[in-house]
Amino acid sequence: MIIRNIALIMAMQEEAKPIIENFKMRYINNAFGSSLPFELYKGTIKDNDIHLILSGKDKIYKVDNIATQPATLSTYLTIELLKPDLIINAGTAGGFYHRGAKIGTVYISNGLCKYHDRRIPIPGFREYGIGDYPTIKVHRMAKDLHLTPGIITTGNSLDISDKDMEIIRGNNADVKDMEAAAIAWLAMLYKIPFCVVKSITDLIDSNTPTQEEFIVNLATASNNLCKAVVEIISYCLNKSISDL
Ligand code: ADE
Repeated sequence: MIIRNIALIMAMQEEAKPIIENFKMRYINNAFGSSLPFELYKGTIKDNDIHLILSGKDKIYKVDNIATQPATLSTYLTIELLKPDLIINAGTAGGFYHRGAKIGTVYISNGLCKYHDRRIPIPGFREYGIGDYPTIKVHRMAKDLHLTPGIITTGNSLDISDKDMEIIRGNNADVKDMEAAAIAWLAMLYKIPFCVVKSITDLIDSNTPTQEEFIVNLATASNNLCKAVVEIISYCLNKSISDL
């Protein structure tokens, strides 16, 4: 199948802003109904529609709706409403110095998304908790666009516990985020090709507290993310998944 309808699923406004501006996307009012915070932006590239779905702000706390709960619901609604033929989860993430990451490195998923904080020590449920959700193979694109391939690991916390770290190391994960595995689960259920693009804001195994590094590097990482997303979209459009 030829890729013509791409949905970019994103959590934070600051991460999405450079992409919305670059593609001159317009906001589609009330696309997901008035009760939900999700925002839809639409752009046109090479005669194809590009949709960007943002999780929006929490009505009470006035911050971005990050992590798996909003991502799951916005992805479900995106699939039902827009019927995308490729879903890309773009955003920022934590990386690991011991795996070669640097601030601003842009990773692309290399086949797997897992969880690191769903600990259920009962046979069967243990494996279910970690999960193993597929992403499409993008070897050619990663090489052509100089993106770093990596395993993505998802949890609902920005910081990390010793147990999380043990699971992450056990899975050889490179990129720690807060949405990808939730989106990957839906893409798997609906058999929609899916990949993850994440730009690194913080090195989890450095001495600086994650939240400090995250805030300092968010703008730089978001600009790197935008550059990569623009190239990825142009690369993917009008190709078939097997050509990536
Ligand atoms: N997004 C940016 N940095 C992150 C981290 N360290 N963990 C999870 N999500 C992140």
